[in-house]
Amino acid sequence: MNADLTDLTHAPDTEQARFLKSLAEKSDGGSLRGDYTHADADYVVRQDCAAYTPAQHALWRDLYARQAALLPGRACDAFIANLAQMEAADGIPDFARTSALLSAATGWTLVAVPGLVPDKTFFEHLAARRFPVTVWLREPHEFDYIVEPDVFHDFFGHVPLLFDPVFADHLQQYGKGGLKAMRLNGLTYLARLYWYTIEFGLIETAEGLRAYGAGLLSSGGEIEQCLRSAIPRRIAFNAGRVMRTLYKIDSYQESYFVIRSFEQLFADTAPDFTPLYARLQTQAALPANTLLDTEVDRGPA
Ligand code: PHE
Ligand code: CO
Repeated sequence: MNADLTDLTHAPDTEQARFLKSLAEKSDGGSLRGDYTHADADYVVRQDCAAYTPAQHALWRDLYARQAALLPGRACDAFIANLAQMEAADGIPDFARTSALLSAATGWTLVAVPGLVPDKTFFEHLAARRFPVTVWLREPHEFDYIVEPDVFHDFFGHVPLLFDPVFADHLQQYGKGGLKAMRLNGLTYLARLYWYTIEFGLIETAEGLRAYGAGLLSSGGEIEQCLRSAIPRRIAFNAGRVMRTLYKIDSYQESYFVIRSFEQLFADTAPDFTPLYARLQTQAALPANTLLDTEVDRGPA
């Protein structure tokens, strides 16, 4: 029945577990998926573009075409404009080419990785304005749903907004904040922030509500559900509130948090989180479907 769930992503508190699991399963075959044998100390590999088959390029084109058709009226303007200028519709892209464009735009680069990487490695890449992109592509039977992030999720979902200067600065700050949170027992809270913003965030625009989270933008089903369904809550973003809130990794989200701008996201996450982590450690987490009595459910778009 759940044939059309969203993809799972790089949430730090589950990443380590799935990272270990992907390593454990690596022995079951010689496919491209999760081959860590050639990774360097930063988990970086060479993207072997010649290894992608014509069938894989065709699957990419189908994924891209289905998803691109869903973007107008659903994705934020910056995502649509930046994706178009990446010219990545015709097959699995060469990361080096996009990385050169990106580097000129915002100083970010792309690095190829075998799949999920450890938290510390992930944060170190982001803090150095390097975005890790998984090299392998899902199989045809995973068209609508995939357990681990693949190249389609990582590249299509995440890379376009790295061309946005404010979003790009925010993600670097997140990486630095991740390294700091590791020292402060704050990773659980920072993972929730990532989940409800970078992966499943909504933004209020002059034209209406739009998606900016990569988990929404790379999903064939949730990109519509998050805006139009009456089931989930849509709540004004508040960093402390989001960091208290549990999330679902195997179903559509029960709550979405709405920012007004990337400037707001940057500003609201700029303060020192040390006292916030200390407070959160004394509070019970909120279920994913919580609506506090101080909050308003914005309703569907
Ligand atoms: N301001 C946060 C801190 O002091 C770091 C951070 C920035 C976290 C941006 C997330 C996003 O820990
Ligand atoms: Co992701």
